[in-house]
This record gives sequence, C-alpha cells and structure tokens, in this order.
Amino acid sequence: MSNTIAVIPGDGIGPEIMTATLRVLDALDCGLKYEFVDAGMVALDKHGDLLPKATLDKIAEHKVALKGPLTTPIGGGFTSVNVTLRRHFDLYANVRPAVSFPGTKSRYENIDIITVRENTEGAYRSEGQTLSEDGEIAESVARNTRKGSSRIVRYAFELAVKKGRKKITAVHKANILKTSSGLFLNVAREIAKEYPQIEFNEMIVDNTCMQLVMRPEQFDVIVTTNLFGDILSDLCAGLVGGLGLAPGDNIGEHAAIFEAVHGSAPDIAGKGIANPCALLLAAADMLDYLDMVAKGDRLRQAIRDTMTNDRDSVTPDLGGKGSTDSFADAIASRVKI
Ligand code: NAI
Ligand code: MG
Repeated sequence: MSNTIAVIPGDGIGPEIMTATLRVLDALDCGLKYEFVDAGMVALDKHGDLLPKATLDKIAEHKVALKGPLTTPIGGGFTSVNVTLRRHFDLYANVRPAVSFPGTKSRYENIDIITVRENTEGAYRSEGQTLSEDGEIAESVARNTRKGSSRIVRYAFELAVKKGRKKITAVHKANILKTSSGLFLNVAREIAKEYPQIEFNEMIVDNTCMQLVMRPEQFDVIVTTNLFGDILSDLCAGLVGGLGLAPGDNIGEHAAIFEAVHGSAPDIAGKGIANPCALLLAAADMLDYLDMVAKGDRLRQAIRDTMTNDRDSVTPDLGGKGSTDSFADAIASRVKI
C-alpha cells in the first residue's frame, strides 16, 4: 500500500482538528505523506462542486483517506457528500469503536464495544423511498441482500479474529421484519459456524437498546444492518462520553475513509476549542488498517494518558480549559518515545 494518503480537511472545525491531527501523526513518525483535496463547502466555493472529480480520483489513487467533517448545504437539492462517497467507493462496512476514556462525563468505565454497521443497503437506499403524488402515502423499502449481509457479517468476524475479540452479537428485528432482517440473521447464523472460536449471540434491537444502557459491559462486537447500526452506534458513543471521542471508519474492498463521527460544529468553528480526539482516534484506526498497529496503539495510549494526567490541556467539552492546540500538543509530546 502507498504511503501517501488523501487528506480532506473539510468544513467548520475540520481544518482545525485536521491540522492538529496531522501534527500528532508527524510526531508519531509514521512516514505518511499527505495529498490535500477539497470536498464540502470549501470545494463548492473554490470549484463550484461539493465533491470534485479530482477529489474522487485522488482517493481512488491512494486508496486511503482521512476526512474532516463536511457541511451539507440545506436546500438546493444537494446530496450528502458523505453518502455519495460511501456509494461511490462501495464502503460497505462502517466500523465505530466506543471505548471508555478517563475523565469523561460517562456513567461507565469499562466499555469497549465495536459496532460494525452495514453501510450501503437496508432501509437507507434512496431508490426505495417514495411518496404518492397526493402526498398521502410514503413508502420506504428496506432491501438486504445475501451478498451484502454476508460481507458485513464476515467483515465483523474477521475483525474480531484480528483484534482478539471474544464475542459477536448480531442485532436484528427478524421477529417482525421477517424478510429483510430475517435474511440478515440467517446469514449471520450460517457464517458464525465458520468461527467456532468466537462466541455468537443474537439479540433483538429494542432489547439491545435497553441492555446497552443497563449492562453495556456484556457487549464486545455488534454487527447489524444499516438503520439499526446508525442508531446503536450513536447510543454507544453516548455511553462513553459523546461525539468528541467517536471515530468512524468506512471500509470497502478498494478504498477506506477514516473520519470523526461528529459534524462541522459551526457553533464553535474558528474558536480553537474543538476536541481533536475523534479524528485522532480515526487516524489511529487508519494506522491499524495500514498495518502500523503498534503506532495506532501508541496514539490511543497517548490520548488516554493525556486525559488522565494533563487535565489542564484538554478541551472544554471534556471539562478542561485547554484548546485544540494545547490538547494536540500534549498528545504529540506523549507519542514520542
Ligand atoms: P455536529 O456534530 O457538528 O455538532 C453537534 C454538537 O456537538 C455541537 O454543539 C458541536 O459544537 C459539538 N461538537 C461536535 N464536534 C465537536 C468537537 N470535536 N469538539 C467539541 N464539540 C464538538 O452536528 P450538527 O450541528 O448537527 O451538524 C453540523 C454540520 O455538520 C451539518 O452541516 C451536518 O450536515 C454536518 N455533519 C457532517 C458529518 C460528516 O461529515 N461526517 C457528520 C454529521 C454532521
Ligand atoms: Mg448517524
């Protein structure tokens, strides 16, 4: 794999947290080179296009991108750039780790859950959504395929093996959504037999919500369809202290895009107080993906150490008095050995 990655700084707080993140990556001495490309409002202003072809070409060329949040303009019929990127590169796996960090407002201390969400089908297909001419009947058709279900379940099991995880919970609603959720569950059961070393568990989505809030420690890896995964992964982010610590990895066969789960935060953009950790944690996942697992782990540990021992440097969303820069600098000084 090439050592050049495409970098999309993005909108709002994007450029601030991206600059901070790249500074930490440089301190980590990963040997990565960056090719900067535009998307979002910046690209619309500069090139008249939210997602220029040159940006798509560079992501295709380097196969790996680190992406800041993008603002989707409301009105004007613009499609979300994030959705377009997922479709264009068939980024079928949305992997969202939720891990407890010290010094957050979370009620729990020992959470370490990875949600693996199917990212391309289910209830989120635009083709499946119709409104009758008189505006009285809205339909939304969920479509899951054997191929789509197989590849996401297999991805989850392979990830569990690679990361030494013990248990996979397939989350579904097959008791009511007998066909779409039923197909997914059947495929999950079949594939689970190929991985006897991983404990397989299945759980209905509403019960899963309650269990996540009551006893989140029981979960290890969750695999589920698009809509349930969207909701459950935000729930998991909430369990560990919110969006400032939530990375999101979008993985396909031919490309992968790593980003923070949060948006461009226009309310705090330009103030220098955005928490860079979600993007930093996405960068750590990117290092894992690029076979630099030791460096990814070192980065996560440096974030953890900073949050434990250097409370003055952390950003206000985590109860500190620091800035994006002070937080990133404190992390950067800890990744150097
Ligand atoms: P948001 O995630 O940008 O902000 C929600 C709240 O969380 C705000 O109060 C914000 O200040 C805070 N926040 C978010 N990230 C933070 C950080 N790193 N440090 C400290 N506080 C942080 O969500 P919102 O306001 O709904 O969306 C704003 C824009 O972002 C919209 O245009 C939306 O379309 C876009 N968006 C883009 C995403 C992406 O590119 N992946 C994901 C979500 C939203
Ligand atoms: Mg979501």
